[in-house]
Amino acid sequence: MAVSSQSPLQLKLRHISTTNSTTQPHPTVTFFPKSHLQSSLKFNISVSAVPKSVAITADPEPCFTSVKSFAPATVANLGPGFDFLGCAVDGIGDYVTLRVDPNVHPGEVSISDISGAGSKLSKNPLWNCAGIAAIAVMKMLKIRSVGLSLSLEKGLPLGSGLGSSAASAAAAAVAVNELFGGKLSVSELVLAGLESESKVSGYHADNVAPSIMGGFVLIRSYDPLELMQLKFPHERDLFFVLVNPEFEAPTKKMRAALPPEITMSHHVWNCSQAGALVASVLQGDLAGFGKALSSDKIVEPRRAPLIPGMEAVKKAAIEAGAFGCTISGAGPTAVAVTDDEETGRKIGERMVEAFLEGGNLKALAMVKQLDRVGARLVSSIPR
Ligand code: HSE
Repeated sequence: MAVSSQSPLQLKLRHISTTNSTTQPHPTVTFFPKSHLQSSLKFNISVSAVPKSVAITADPEPCFTSVKSFAPATVANLGPGFDFLGCAVDGIGDYVTLRVDPNVHPGEVSISDISGAGSKLSKNPLWNCAGIAAIAVMKMLKIRSVGLSLSLEKGLPLGSGLGSSAASAAAAAVAVNELFGGKLSVSELVLAGLESESKVSGYHADNVAPSIMGGFVLIRSYDPLELMQLKFPHERDLFFVLVNPEFEAPTKKMRAALPPEITMSHHVWNCSQAGALVASVLQGDLAGFGKALSSDKIVEPRRAPLIPGMEAVKKAAIEAGAFGCTISGAGPTAVAVTDDEETGRKIGERMVEAFLEGGNLKALAMVKQLDRVGARLVSSIPR
């Protein structure tokens, strides 16, 4: 099924300001999304030098006949940072191959193939994370003359807490943008990914922003969208132990379990822990990072009981020497942190045992590092 990118646009961006990430240690990107269901997309750029955002008036030509992109897995929330903190992890993620296809109606995208862990996914672009993000980017670029076919290779299991839907959206958004010459900014790509996330799991950018940007990302504000990259020192070792049990925890269901209101004391506690987490990331203080990661008193206590064995897994990780442990995103994956790869493997073994003993769940452990790059092209065929 092919779906047009020419339906009414959903976002009007009235103001974009960015700082250049090569000159600022912690770049801030600000967006002002307006009301939904606008009939046109306008960019009124108010700063004198904006590196990648441009006013788009013409239907751009493709620069390639085909591109292949990769977007990494992510750990959202990082404990106390529900919906506003996340980071990317290297070596696992989703791939999107995008081709200019004369058999697809101009201005439309068609999903030709889904492989890997995505057999349950719809090939209707309106119901597929990659399709939704691809259409959003096509709308932003006003693609009218070219039809595209998209093939999705799912490296990430669905509903795992590793940002599976966001990785598909990020890979698709980057592929469409790069096919047409990379005209959109990182923040515009995040907005395209957010359209996808809001349709499938909820309006949260703590997976899609780090998947696109790499590293640690703080979502300072949603309206306007304001993103801050948090630089973790290059010289410090950081290993994530990711333990994924055979259990699905759909994000929508895990969000429905959250309390509608919180107490002032929990607000104060979680804010102070999130502040400590950000400071620890910037300082490369792993012990401080792990302590803050373990500290959530609002979301984790509601979700952990829904994931069989999670409490035992957290205890096992800490006893095995992890600096901290929590639920990755909405779960069921558990994430622990350490500064040593071999220790990470041992922590992972203990966590796998705890899932089996405490939750009767089989689980797989991986030890991964921070992905500092984010979504990128891995190959391209020029025209
Ligand atoms: N912040 C989101 C949640 C992340 O916890 O619901 C989902 O991966």
